[in-house]
Amino acid sequence: MSRITENLPPTNEGYGTQEYWEQRYTNEGPTVSFDWFLSPEYLLPFIEQTLREAGMGKEARILMLGCGNSSLSEVMYDDGYRDVVNVDYSKAVIEQMKERHKSRVGMEWLEMDVLELQFEEEFDLVIDKGTMDAMLTTKGDPWNPPEKDIKTCTQEITEAIRVMRKRPSSRFLYFTFGQPHFRERYMQDRPNWTLSHKEVGPPEGFAYFMYTLAYTP
Ligand SMILES: C[S@@+](CC[C@H](N)C(=O)[O-])C[C@H]1O[C@@H](n2cnc3c(N)ncnc32)[C@H](O)[C@@H]1O
Repeated sequence: MSRITENLPPTNEGYGTQEYWEQRYTNEGPTVSFDWFLSPEYLLPFIEQTLREAGMGKEARILMLGCGNSSLSEVMYDDGYRDVVNVDYSKAVIEQMKERHKSRVGMEWLEMDVLELQFEEEFDLVIDKGTMDAMLTTKGDPWNPPEKDIKTCTQEITEAIRVMRKRPSSRFLYFTFGQPHFRERYMQDRPNWTLSHKEVGPPEGFAYFMYTLAYTP
């Protein structure tokens, strides 16, 4: 089996289980870094622009949901963001990332379920890159996802906005391949949060999207 196929779940639904991720990160070991889509360097300007337009900068307190072994947080930290908290429900990946980034003082790595965040109202920016996507892998009609998936994704957003400061500068960002019809339903109609989205490229090939929730008192 090749390096790539040995880490694939037997069915797509495997991506929705904690066991799959734990096994995958254990197999990959401490040195692998993998971004599911769009490189951190490509995404950085979109994050910067979002914060700038919100009147925020690198002082923002940031939460990364389902960090995996992506290098997004590391690239952000090295670009000057110092207050970055990373959570994932895989114990293996959190231990690996904590060890790998121990010289990046101030960056936190915590084993945590994004459906039950253990924070108060403390973040200026919460980012999901591909994490909700991993919760939408149940077989069936994507136009009518099962109740279970709707509940899970809705709960993720409820938790994300719960832990954000209730200030006009607060933002939730979700990067995904999921088109608006399939994703907006989980974010829309949130009192005091304004939803928007835009295509973020890349210039050629498959289109990716950035969804934004902006606090609107
Ligand atoms: C598709 S990967 C994306 C990883 C990374 N954000 C990236 O862009 O490369 C999904 C990640 O979300 C994590 N995850 C999925 N469901 C989660 C949950 N309920 N709580 C915490 N982490 C979760 C998985 O362990 C995995 O690391």
